[in-house]
Amino acid sequence: MNQSNGPRPFDVEAIRRDFPILKREVRPGVPLVYLDNAATSQKPVQVLAEITRFYRDHNANIHRGVHTLSMEATELYENARQTVATFINAPDPRGIVFTRNVTESINLVAHGWARKYLHEGDEVVLTEIEHHSNIVPWQILRDERGIVLKFIPMLPDGTLDLDYARTAIGPRTKLVSVTAMSNALGTIVPVADIVAMAKEHGAKVLVDAAQQVPHMPSDVQALGCDFFAFTGHKMLAPFGIGVLWAPVELLDAMGPFLGGGDMILTVTLEQSTWNEVPHKFEAGTPNVGGVVALAAAVDYLSSLGMEAVRAHERELVDYALRRLGDVPGVTIFGPPDADQRGGVVSFDLEGVHPHDVGQVLDSRGVAVRTGHHCAQPVMAALNVPATARASFYIYNTTDEVDALVAAVEETSRYFGGVSV
Ligand code: ALA
Repeated sequence: MNQSNGPRPFDVEAIRRDFPILKREVRPGVPLVYLDNAATSQKPVQVLAEITRFYRDHNANIHRGVHTLSMEATELYENARQTVATFINAPDPRGIVFTRNVTESINLVAHGWARKYLHEGDEVVLTEIEHHSNIVPWQILRDERGIVLKFIPMLPDGTLDLDYARTAIGPRTKLVSVTAMSNALGTIVPVADIVAMAKEHGAKVLVDAAQQVPHMPSDVQALGCDFFAFTGHKMLAPFGIGVLWAPVELLDAMGPFLGGGDMILTVTLEQSTWNEVPHKFEAGTPNVGGVVALAAAVDYLSSLGMEAVRAHERELVDYALRRLGDVPGVTIFGPPDADQRGGVVSFDLEGVHPHDVGQVLDSRGVAVRTGHHCAQPVMAALNVPATARASFYIYNTTDEVDALVAAVEETSRYFGGVSV
């Protein structure tokens, strides 16, 4: 991959050849149609090779040794920080903190920033479409500190009530913490508008970008947010490597999160002092192999160009909305317009529980997620217990959307539902 030559042409068949798992059959004669990308993405050979290369040729602990392998591993790790910073247009790689996942990134903010700066009566504004990881840490803090939580409601079409947001975000608001894209519905949230509302009142903004960074261009400086969290495994990298970005001055002003090795400057039996950022927030031996693999994943996505990734998924979701929307008995949740949603289609098949839909689809090789998608308030707002959710990525094709539609039609027939 050569970034200096600009993005390579977006050739889905060539991309598919990079993903060995896409050649597998889930049982004899039934090829895999992987449509569970909002849960986790598959991994290309380039990333798999980088993981192997790291452990085969460079494996050592970082920031600790003067020996060659340790220095090589440290260099790979710190170079990856720069690669990730460039990918989201962060002005300084020291603003990139490596975590385990978005959940840990948000908890880091709740511990390191909110516990230091928020007091009883201070308001944190969230939305009804958040993943549990952007609700539960704030409820724990509310119960501990007496902060007030407000939720921007979801409108029936799965978008947010921005009029309510304008009234909810006010002088008592200290933080607005919002997803960039709903994992359950695919709604793309107008985060820039919400940042503008928050900034009028001097509030900080945390963006849960778990479903954005893998799928569209990201620019933290243009967005003007204060915290930006995302995770590697949804963007071609392995599990267990996440990111929190914040401006260096803000990270400097925060208290530590986990205490232990590497995050300290000095330790006596009486007290300790903290290392500089970002190391202050990277206690213990980090996931060095995961970080190196994340950089390889970023290189892969950069070689495609994130505008092209978004355009491909937009096309797929537009096609899926039309095809699936034509199946009798199917209700699609979320924004009707492909411009307002990422590559996610959450749906219900009349008279069939989503888990049964998922099982029949699996028998046809089609992998979708069913359940509440770690977004129970969204299910409550829709008044459904669960949905079936298809979610797309760079390697999916319209043929696979056709396979999904055929499998949903078959499910309907199997359960004697609305005739198709
Ligand atoms: N948050 C991930 C999902 O939406 C796991 O499936």
